[in-house]
Amino acid sequence: MKNYKFSVIIFFILLFFSCKECVDKILPAEKITSITNRYEKILYVAKDAKHPPRTINTNSDLVTTDIYDWTSGFFAGNLWYIFELTKDEKWKTEAFKWTEALDTIQYWSGHHDVGFMINCSFGNGLRLSKKAEYKKVLIQAAESLCKRYNPVTKCIKSWDYRKAWDGKTEWFYPVIIDNMMNLELLFEASLLSGNKRFAEIAIQHAETTMKNHYRKDYSCYHVVDYDTLTGKILDKATCQGFTDESAWARGQAWGLYGFTLCYRYTKDTRFLDFAEKIANFIIHNPNLPSDLIPYWDYNANNKNFVPEWKYDASKFKEIPRDASAAAITCSALCELSGYSTKHKYEYIDFAEKSLKSLNSPAYMVVSGKNNYFILDHSVGSIPHGAEIDVPLIYADYYFLEAVLRMKKLNINPT
Ligand code: GLY
Repeated sequence: MKNYKFSVIIFFILLFFSCKECVDKILPAEKITSITNRYEKILYVAKDAKHPPRTINTNSDLVTTDIYDWTSGFFAGNLWYIFELTKDEKWKTEAFKWTEALDTIQYWSGHHDVGFMINCSFGNGLRLSKKAEYKKVLIQAAESLCKRYNPVTKCIKSWDYRKAWDGKTEWFYPVIIDNMMNLELLFEASLLSGNKRFAEIAIQHAETTMKNHYRKDYSCYHVVDYDTLTGKILDKATCQGFTDESAWARGQAWGLYGFTLCYRYTKDTRFLDFAEKIANFIIHNPNLPSDLIPYWDYNANNKNFVPEWKYDASKFKEIPRDASAAAITCSALCELSGYSTKHKYEYIDFAEKSLKSLNSPAYMVVSGKNNYFILDHSVGSIPHGAEIDVPLIYADYYFLEAVLRMKKLNINPT
């Protein structure tokens, strides 16, 4: 018996050190210190927890956002991830504060992003602190999100009424690929509450998205607009991509991550198969640069694609990359590698290489340029002329998540 206990203790000690060695190789101690220094500066400069940090402006000053903006949950999420990475309680204290500042979002149904906002903040908070009250917040947020579901269209409405780039086409029920990310909240809330309806809506939304958002090559449209009376598709278009028919990089990453998480909760192999096909589109894309950090759109600047919005190619010396898309893809592939038998090592290899690129001076924020975020070179929306080649809070979020997931895979990157 004594020998058995001794072996178990030795096993866990070895496991601890091999995991430590693994994260040390992915993110050496000096990089973790640089990250914590930067996030300490953000905490110092950010006005209050009602104004979550989002990016920087042209003077390299910190730009914060409103709590009703889609990105509001990422800062709290990053604080939870930094706590998970460092185990330093001071990050937990801040994470509680910035999470709870988003308390009213659980009742918000003004757009679909409540999933991002609540799951990244309260969802991680529940996972890492087990604070029981957070369960109620997740369940209430799922109720709010389900208000945007329509049984005729069989999907959740992303945005309210708006017009397409042509200025004429009206979208009454626009659904964007990003919405796949909100399904995690519904699946989690379903498990927490026992309310099967949340999971049923999530599955229905995913099935509708598989059917209507994707092309034959498993790239996807950004926006699909529906007729609420008949459920028919009225328009397929882009809002943040190069053209309606192009493959906006972050959209492809949202889809990959979204179908992977659908498989996590359902074990339905249709979702696994679909995620693998999207992964194939991304990994073997002929327009993917050799460092595996995609251009902001896989078809950007391709003469066969004609933008519907005013595009001046001469504005950009080089086609901007999108580090956020790379970080989301990397994190999703870490998870997918755990489910895929056929492509496990291909996904791990791609995730390792892209993480290595992100983790290099080419993509990490250069000291002195700004003092706040981890990754540089992301793109918010080129058609809107907004946040081009800058750090973005959600790029940091998925980067930290990818690091933690890589650590859990317990692989020593070589
Ligand atoms: N969900 C908005 C974006 O990806 O820019």
